[in-house]
Amino acid sequence: MTPAENDLLCLVEGDAPMGKLMRQFWVPALLSEEIEVDGKPTRVKLFGEPLVAYRDSNGTVGLMGEFCPHRGASLVYGRNEKCALRCLYHGWKMDAEGNILEMPSEPTASPLKQKIKQKAYPTKEWGGFVWAFMGDQAHIPNFLPPPFCPNENTKVSISKIKIPCNWAQITEGQIDSAHSSSLHSSDMVPAPVEFGQATDTQWLRPSTDKSPRFEIQETDFGFRYAAIRRPIKQATTHDYVRVTVYVAPFISLIPPNTSYRVATVIVPIDNENTAFHFIAFGEGDVPSTQTWRKFLSTTVGEDLNPDYTNRRHLGNDFMQDRELMKQGNYTGISGIPNQDIAMWVGMGPIANRSHDILGASDQAIVTFRRLMHSAAKATGEGKTVFDHSTSTISLDQLKAWEEVVDKGTNWRILGAAPEEIQELQT
Ligand code: FES
Ligand SMILES: [Fe+2]
Repeated sequence: MTPAENDLLCLVEGDAPMGKLMRQFWVPALLSEEIEVDGKPTRVKLFGEPLVAYRDSNGTVGLMGEFCPHRGASLVYGRNEKCALRCLYHGWKMDAEGNILEMPSEPTASPLKQKIKQKAYPTKEWGGFVWAFMGDQAHIPNFLPPPFCPNENTKVSISKIKIPCNWAQITEGQIDSAHSSSLHSSDMVPAPVEFGQATDTQWLRPSTDKSPRFEIQETDFGFRYAAIRRPIKQATTHDYVRVTVYVAPFISLIPPNTSYRVATVIVPIDNENTAFHFIAFGEGDVPSTQTWRKFLSTTVGEDLNPDYTNRRHLGNDFMQDRELMKQGNYTGISGIPNQDIAMWVGMGPIANRSHDILGASDQAIVTFRRLMHSAAKATGEGKTVFDHSTSTISLDQLKAWEEVVDKGTNWRILGAAPEEIQELQT
């Protein structure tokens, strides 16, 4: 990729086409757990735009510009009182919609209150996230439940980490099945099992094959691909297939194990920082948030700082333990996400893709770059892309999948309900 092409893919701030593209969707802006009724407001940044989020006395979430419309004091320090946020500096008070309710520093009869509004975005809570719509406020799309939380009964456990690098190199990690056989080989261990299985400490995998074949299916929401490996059992007659789904622009569905399903949600904070969410979900035996974060070494207060930044970072080489490696651990880095993060952050704040040497196992990466590139260009020309409301396959039916199947099985319909098969098979 040329530097200009890389910029088009990566940059999200201001008028950058990729930022505009992302603003056409409901954005997973923060976790519901980050704000309490009448509690401390929290600083949020999305696409480089500084914001403040708070939960008012009724439980309603406000997400508005961080800086007071009066003279720019940060509202993160504001008082969360009686259904509104009051700026500490001169006491201007504003509600979740940005209406200015009080201006104690102005004469009582002043008409100024009615003339101005603080920028505020509509929000919706679903699946553990506060979602915001930051695009054209004259055309707010309906909120559609995401594939990791199709209905209110879905159990969702989220691990959140703020990562100091660009969103695109993180997303490329989610759609890169080949790396799991190397980078995560101490946590995703080959074993003679029928399906991928989760134990308390490992994910067992029915294959030793490190160079999967790829087949890709482009769709109107992004793409799906199969990584096809030789299984440990029945290697001559069967394939081990892992189907990953990219729901542009934020969500990837990762092949599940026998207990729960897995997704990632990747949201740009700015050009060089990203909120990464690793999600376990499903109807059955889904680990609790606490167990999930412990398994991933992403517990807030232990592995992460209270603002979700990582205590493992470039400055301490992600606490890589070379002794552990001598004893047989592949990376010496504990926690699946921490292994990925070392790879992503180690590339630099924005990966320079001009010298990449792409091979057969990088087909999904190539598809991602080409697809997002043309989508960003189309957005720059004022077009709508990846319209989830008109997608032929509804979002809540999308599934990642993994299975050992007869050779020649059409992976596109694995796991599909009968009514979905027609849309999925070609
Ligand atoms: S700067 Fe906020 S009230 Fe004056
Ligand atoms: Fe990974």
